[in-house]
Amino acid sequence: MLQHVITRDDRTRRWEDYVVPQNWGSFTKDDHAVWDLLFARQVDLLGSRVVSAFLDGIDLLKLSHPGVPDVEGLNAILEPRTGWRTVAVPGLVPDEIFFAMLSERVFPVGNFIRARKQLDYLEAPDCFHDMFGHIPMLAHHQYAEMARHIGELGTAAIAAGEGHRAARIYWHSVEFGLAREHGELKILGAGLASSFGESHFSLESDKVERLPFSVGRAVNTPYRHDAFQPLYLVSESLESTVDEILAMTPEELLEL
Ligand SMILES: [Fe+2]
Repeated sequence: MLQHVITRDDRTRRWEDYVVPQNWGSFTKDDHAVWDLLFARQVDLLGSRVVSAFLDGIDLLKLSHPGVPDVEGLNAILEPRTGWRTVAVPGLVPDEIFFAMLSERVFPVGNFIRARKQLDYLEAPDCFHDMFGHIPMLAHHQYAEMARHIGELGTAAIAAGEGHRAARIYWHSVEFGLAREHGELKILGAGLASSFGESHFSLESDKVERLPFSVGRAVNTPYRHDAFQPLYLVSESLESTVDEILAMTPEELLEL
């Protein structure tokens, strides 16, 4: 998720400087049990309420295997497929670093998992959000290319002092987007797919607005990261949003 203020220090650092060993062996028995509990609960909760590419990704990446996934195991499947790989980070990375990673097909995943007593409350996205929410979609070829392109757009937008433009595209598609599939409203975004409370809310609540996704609307729609969204953007289809974002140049983004 994107919620960082970039400091002067960050500007002199490369994305590689934020990568840490996952230390998979240091996850405790209870950590693995928490993953299993979250995974089983969320798969059951989502059912078919999520785009089919997400469910395909869960299968392809063998995420139903018990315990916290190790990044090497994920990468052994993901990298040959779409060129993407995961790296472990200790927490949120600055937007500039995050977009630089995306532009090189690198996705940062937290090297920690929430505590059992905080199953539904997260101060920072943990490896369940990152690995369950995001990584399945990166096994989808067109989506994977879109995510890389958002990294390029973000890097260019930040350089122009307009980082929020790319952050909003990311937010309203990759994190909290909805999409139609065979006429039905489905979850697209990782923030929804990995959320116990907001996944059903986003689809079923009559207290929120749902408007058609367009890059222009996304860029001009602020978001909040401290509460459920008051508004969701709905892609006509996953493919149409991929095509629209891929067609956007950094120059065009700055003019929206
Ligand atoms: Fe996220």
